[in-house]
Amino acid sequence: MNGLQILGTGRALPDHITTNDDLAKLVETNDEWIVSRTGIRERRFAREGESLTQFAVEAAQKALERAGLAPEDIGLCLMATVTPDCITPAQSCLVHQALHLPEDCPAFDLSAGCTGFLYAMETAAALLPRMSRPYALLIGGELLSRIVDMSDRSTCILFGDGVGAAVVKTTEDAPWFSKLGTRGEKDILWAPGPGNHPAWLHMSGQDVFKFALETVPKLARELLDQAGLDKDQVDWYVPHQANHRIVESVAKRLKVPLSKFYENIALYGNTSAGTIPIALDEMAEQGLLRGGQWIMCLGFGAGLTWGGALFQWQDKEEK
Ligand code: UT7
Repeated sequence: MNGLQILGTGRALPDHITTNDDLAKLVETNDEWIVSRTGIRERRFAREGESLTQFAVEAAQKALERAGLAPEDIGLCLMATVTPDCITPAQSCLVHQALHLPEDCPAFDLSAGCTGFLYAMETAAALLPRMSRPYALLIGGELLSRIVDMSDRSTCILFGDGVGAAVVKTTEDAPWFSKLGTRGEKDILWAPGPGNHPAWLHMSGQDVFKFALETVPKLARELLDQAGLDKDQVDWYVPHQANHRIVESVAKRLKVPLSKFYENIALYGNTSAGTIPIALDEMAEQGLLRGGQWIMCLGFGAGLTWGGALFQWQDKEEK
């Protein structure tokens, strides 16, 4: 079975912080409501003139550096996003251009909402063995502030901007268990295509909440079954950061202590395809990820899509 080894991670977020109190000046809301209903305290919004490309390139450069690899080593470049700078070419092509990736390194985008990074990992695991070089650059992230209606209190408090990246290679011996799914359903979480103005994101929050609790605990159990592991053998659960209450409910349903779930939603809100790679990068930086640990990433989002990966963290061999 082909699995992936994560060799290096990176992240890049706008430096401009918007607090709950800042949003309370725009819409009828307050810090207490937002913190108690979502766990979010602040988020980053890109300034006018900043682009997804610049954050994606910064995150990718850090991931390459930590992997000890150069752009010419990369054989596949994937970017998961729903807020590309252009409709065409793909966001990954803009990164390809900026990093001068080799011409025989294909680049394309994946649109799987907040599950995007898990879709990218699975695609890389399948495709990498057929590429010219064994390393892939995987990027997930958004400038959601570009499609969120800042006068809609049910969405503007939830989302933020940010990008995470990972450089991976395929391995045949490292354990890797994964599962992806889709429940085609537009009206719960969607944004209109080009030419439609305004292009705001629409969401039925309660339906997404329900979907997450229907799918994520079941997905976690299926991954554990695939691997023949007990829930307590997993060292870290890395959930999509959509709402602290969702994470709490998933932990409760799985009967896993909340302390095993990595959370940073208080600082960044929901950065969609960015949440999982940003979390992995923070965890790596804090020394939380050590060789031999079992990590389970769990995502859900627009599509509706869901997906998870359960793998053993491997320390990078020193060159
Ligand atoms: O990555 C996937 C993307 N999306 C998600 O994961 C979203 C998942 N869903 C959620 O996180 C939650 O459903 C929300 C945080 C969006 C909403 O929380 P909720 O507990 O489901 O609240 P609600 O929609 O049931 O609204 C409760 C009340 C309503 O007022 P009434 O009708 O009870 O008078 C809302 O109008 O809260 C009101 N409300 C607000 N009040 C203050 C809605 N948004 C706000 C707000 N501030 N920002």
